[in-house]
Amino acid sequence: METIISLCKRRGFIFPGSELYGGLANSWDYGPLGAQLKKNIKDEWWRRFVEQRSDMVGLDAAVIMNPKVWEASGHLKTFSDPLIECKKCHERFRADHVKDFERCPSCKAEKTFTEAKQFNLMFKTSLGPKEDSASVAYMRPEIAQAMFVNFKNVLDATRKRLPFGIASQGRAFRNEITPGNFIFRTREFDLMELEYFVNESEWEKYFDYWLSQMKQWLKDLGVSEKRLHFVEIPPEDRAHYSKRTVDVEYDYPFGKKELYGLAYRGDFDLTNHSTASKQELTYTDPETNAKFVPHVIEPSFGLDRSVLVALLEAYHEEEAPTSEKEETEKRVVMKFPAWMAPVKVAILPLSKKDELAVVARPLYEQLCKHFACEYDETQSIGKRYRRQDEIGTPYCVTVDFETLSDNAVTVRDRDTMKQERIAIASLAEYLKTKLS
Ligand code: GAP
Repeated sequence: METIISLCKRRGFIFPGSELYGGLANSWDYGPLGAQLKKNIKDEWWRRFVEQRSDMVGLDAAVIMNPKVWEASGHLKTFSDPLIECKKCHERFRADHVKDFERCPSCKAEKTFTEAKQFNLMFKTSLGPKEDSASVAYMRPEIAQAMFVNFKNVLDATRKRLPFGIASQGRAFRNEITPGNFIFRTREFDLMELEYFVNESEWEKYFDYWLSQMKQWLKDLGVSEKRLHFVEIPPEDRAHYSKRTVDVEYDYPFGKKELYGLAYRGDFDLTNHSTASKQELTYTDPETNAKFVPHVIEPSFGLDRSVLVALLEAYHEEEAPTSEKEETEKRVVMKFPAWMAPVKVAILPLSKKDELAVVARPLYEQLCKHFACEYDETQSIGKRYRRQDEIGTPYCVTVDFETLSDNAVTVRDRDTMKQERIAIASLAEYLKTKLS
């Protein structure tokens, strides 16, 4: 983890949050490359699960909802973790995370814990200038509720037929007791969720279907199968709304932990919102005229955890030849799948001389229209290749003095390090094919 965290800072993927003021524990800011990497994953998810499907629609809802939503959803009552407090140093811990109850993990005092109390994880805030009970509101801990609350609006507006889904992406907030492990567990994070509405009789079929879709997504994210585990969660450990949950777990450097979740929420949410709002949240089958409350399958993907596994999977250290014959050196290379790489092509003029810039600059401007490109003319070419390897750029294009006579450039492949001479006239097409 230390290696990844330091690479992320050095190259501008992820910085410690509020670092200028000494930081804020467990808060992280995505830098120029991290913001692009995260966006690429988010956009690919949206393309795959919304744009390319006729049974799915999107939603972009408010973070702060009417507090009655959280009452009806059960979050006010049950979205909590057991909390114990050390009587000596008053540090608080998640009871289910502290294995050794004999000693306080912070001050090491012996047997000084209070009884476990339930601690609600929702962030409370107040709307408007008055801070009284009437102004209390919550930052959403999941997006799902926005999909349930808008179920009728979406159905009326789109006339979708079952099975269909509503997908959304955005920020969620949880006042985690034990955040940590870089971007694995933070108090604000991005979620990509979809609620798939089905006829109750078909829930098992669609549960299996979404499990296979999640597996395919993970494969395309570049996640190695051997580090994945699909864990059936026993009833006593499931969220309050779930009738079946399979957690997708991953072997992180800090242990096997949750990456994503797949839940069968039954009709829990629509029924509760219908009762609380006194509005009908049903679906009428156009063929049989049967009216019923649809059941829900929910695949939930943490975006920050997706970024974390993408970084972990991409990181490679290799022995690479140096310019000195028969010598090798360590090469760090981020082998992101091409679609995910924050920079697709780097344009590297061999020297800063104007005669190369007059060719390299327009080439950069032209390629920028097709791919995310970077222009770099500083330092030796070896150092520039190393930098591009570390940020995972699939192709480097070198403009050299021969270019001036043969109108061709050298294209270097990140993974094989093989170099090919390509005519400038066919470069964009060549790269398009390689990157697709
Ligand atoms: N709507 C279902 C739901 O919220 P969850 O298992 O509580 O289910 C979904 O959360 C996903 O959100 C997790 O699988 C994980 O990827 C991500 N996640 C949850 N808590 C997180 C946190 N504190 N920091 C980063 N990601 C988190």
